[in-house]
Amino acid sequence: MDKLIITGGTRLDGELRISGAKNAALPILAATLLSHAPVSIGNVPHLHDITTTMELLGRMGVGLTVDEKMNIQVDTSTINSFVAPYELVRTMRASILVLGPLLARFGEAHVSLPGGCAIGSRPVDIHLSGLAQMGAEITLDGGFIHAKVKRLKGCRLMLEQITVTGTENLLMAAVLAEGTTIMENAAKEPEVTDLAHFLNKMGAKITGIGTDVLTIEGVEKLGETTVHYDILPDRIETGTYLCAAAITGGRVKLKDTRPDLLDAVLAKLVEAGAEITTGDDWIELDMHGKSPKAVSVRTLPYPAFPTDMQAQFCAMNAIAEGVGIVTETVFENRFMHVNELQRMGADIRLESNTAICTGVKKLTGAPVMATDLRASASLVIAALVAEGDTVVDRIYHIDRGYDHIEEKLAQLGATIRRVPK
Ligand code: UD1
Repeated sequence: MDKLIITGGTRLDGELRISGAKNAALPILAATLLSHAPVSIGNVPHLHDITTTMELLGRMGVGLTVDEKMNIQVDTSTINSFVAPYELVRTMRASILVLGPLLARFGEAHVSLPGGCAIGSRPVDIHLSGLAQMGAEITLDGGFIHAKVKRLKGCRLMLEQITVTGTENLLMAAVLAEGTTIMENAAKEPEVTDLAHFLNKMGAKITGIGTDVLTIEGVEKLGETTVHYDILPDRIETGTYLCAAAITGGRVKLKDTRPDLLDAVLAKLVEAGAEITTGDDWIELDMHGKSPKAVSVRTLPYPAFPTDMQAQFCAMNAIAEGVGIVTETVFENRFMHVNELQRMGADIRLESNTAICTGVKKLTGAPVMATDLRASASLVIAALVAEGDTVVDRIYHIDRGYDHIEEKLAQLGATIRRVPK
């Protein structure tokens, strides 16, 4: 397994281009299963989760070609299997996103149950009960979800809890259902919105996009002609590089991004002492050489502060001035980074779903272990200011969701290298 070795102490300074959003690319690639004509997807990030999704589609017989700019062409005319096998679902829970489109278009899907994961039990009950309400016959057998239906029927869905991939799965199912589906308490994350725009571009009839009530008028067929769609920029990658620059007291200009998707994060960075300037598609952060001030955050669904930025703010609070209280309300067990940060000298106390971070003067480099995607990012951020070398092991977690992280950080002046094993 590759490792990252980071020597802390350099103030970051420079410009970067932000990649397409992983969490939009995954459902959009799954949604290509709904299209009759070939589809072309642009601004796809270069990530392991994308490779896994391509492998998943490829195993179903779907034709895929990728050009050097990561434009992916998908042709579903050769599909011959409706199975998402365990070995792929195990490495990427988002594989569950093929369930809705397969069932809607082919009337059949067999998807391995994702099971537990590092950040909590993460059930899929809302996905399944929504599909059942639309008329699907669902059985669980041998660790698989088996779903069958002649044609899904539109209905009123009231989601018990806000779920991002749940909303996406049900949205992809409803676009080909007979009649109208009204989905209440839908997730409003920008990645859900991006998926909805893509589906409409293929001929779906979705209204209420960007709100928590989605109305979907089912159509017979999607993707009669070839469409091209560019994935929106990754707001979490954006936020991560802003934190990386902020923790070092540095400056960064991020291009090809969307500041309007990061209101809650930018407000907290300003509270931490950053000067933030924005244009339509760029954000500049400047700490003017100062260390951050501790900030308190509470994770909630969009547009509030995202759970996917929580770990990075814990790292920033670890060396900030004062005490920051970080409350996690979306996932039950998302503080695995805290133990590792403590090993670098952080003073963080956990009380159920709250991390009380008291800033210390310095962190010290140590061997640390990446445990999940965003936890790993927080360790890399902490390492940028730690004294000496930090060796981050198990970085396959980082490669799942960060496009060329070591090259991008090196571009900003960080001392970072990948050691293959
Ligand atoms: C997505 C994102 C992930 C992000 C999360 C929350 C993708 C590929 N991943 O994950 O990066 O951290 O949203 O913004 O887009 N829940 C249920 N039953 C269900 C579904 C969810 O109880 O059927 C619960 C979960 O356990 C969790 C909460 O709902 O406590 C929110 O999870 P959800 O929004 O579904 O997360 P994901 O879609 O898996």
